[in-house]
Amino acid sequence: MRISTIDVTAESPYQVVVGHGALEFLPQYLADQRRVAVIHPPLLRDQAARLGASCECELLLIEVPNAEQAKTGATLQACWDALAGAGFTRSDAIVGLGGGATTDLAGFVAATWLRGVRYVSVPTTVLGMVDAAVGGKTGINLAAGKNLVGSFYEPYTVLCDLALLESLPEREMRSGMAEVVKAGFIADPAILSIIEDDPARALDPGGDEICALVKRAISVKAAVVGADLRERTSVGRDVGRELLNYGHTLGHAIERHEGFRWRHGEAISVGMTFVAELSRRLGRLDDDTAERHRRILAALKLPTSYPAKAWPQLREAMNLDKKTRGDGLRFVILEELGHGAILDNPDEGVLRNAFESLA
Ligand code: GLY
Repeated sequence: MRISTIDVTAESPYQVVVGHGALEFLPQYLADQRRVAVIHPPLLRDQAARLGASCECELLLIEVPNAEQAKTGATLQACWDALAGAGFTRSDAIVGLGGGATTDLAGFVAATWLRGVRYVSVPTTVLGMVDAAVGGKTGINLAAGKNLVGSFYEPYTVLCDLALLESLPEREMRSGMAEVVKAGFIADPAILSIIEDDPARALDPGGDEICALVKRAISVKAAVVGADLRERTSVGRDVGRELLNYGHTLGHAIERHEGFRWRHGEAISVGMTFVAELSRRLGRLDDDTAERHRRILAALKLPTSYPAKAWPQLREAMNLDKKTRGDGLRFVILEELGHGAILDNPDEGVLRNAFESLA
């Protein structure tokens, strides 16, 4: 068994355990708990039951809808009702087992039940491991937008068992890799070299490469949230947690434009290609690093182009980002490998031209 731990030291320090077989550590993180509720999607029912049975505490299984459909007020209420029905107290714990949407919901249930009970996150996708499960963002969606209700609530621990990736559909695997590539460009270029050496091996869930990549990407996220858990406002080259939004301004607009049928990573793959091109056109990034985005994402068979005619709708959708920050259009751009910067209200012509070059 190859297991590593990564320390996250933001407000309540915890460890992320990564490796094939990491789930074997669950009982030790729940040793002093009376009961555990495992929140899981339908497909992971058997896995959730096995997980619960491995611990010496009473088990409550709470099944929630698949993916983003779980992140609703109604499902949150159903989880609270299940905990109330079972008489859950502060000596009990919650485990979130699933992709990023499930762990976002489960973390919020844990944050709100009795004003906070122990929460263990068990992500089952690459995206969940390298992004959603680490950093304490929990919450649900509203009709008015994604993640509008939530809290920063750090887990007690995160267990990333790479064996869980073996049953992941290939498209999901590739999509998660977009967030790994993001970590490479914004902070750890060694990630890019590992993928470029052999993209197919990088996607092999049983390989050493995925282990190294997931660990490196989590370490990038741990460092970023350790310095700025609550996403203070970033200015110029002083970029905090917002750095993790690299490629996301356009990426979120594409997800919306595609009616959320694209995987998140597919949308941010186009978003990163775009913002690298924007950075290059503004004279802030060299040609080779910009082109490297297209090469590496294409090698992972992720999309790097988008029809030019979609620009007016995407530009409109990007305005919705203003709602959360209350200011103008804002991008995280790249100035050199491993160095992001904030770009506020860029010239509209440059934006459109950079986008049209993706067509
Ligand atoms: N997914 C971006 C963040 O955790 O801040």
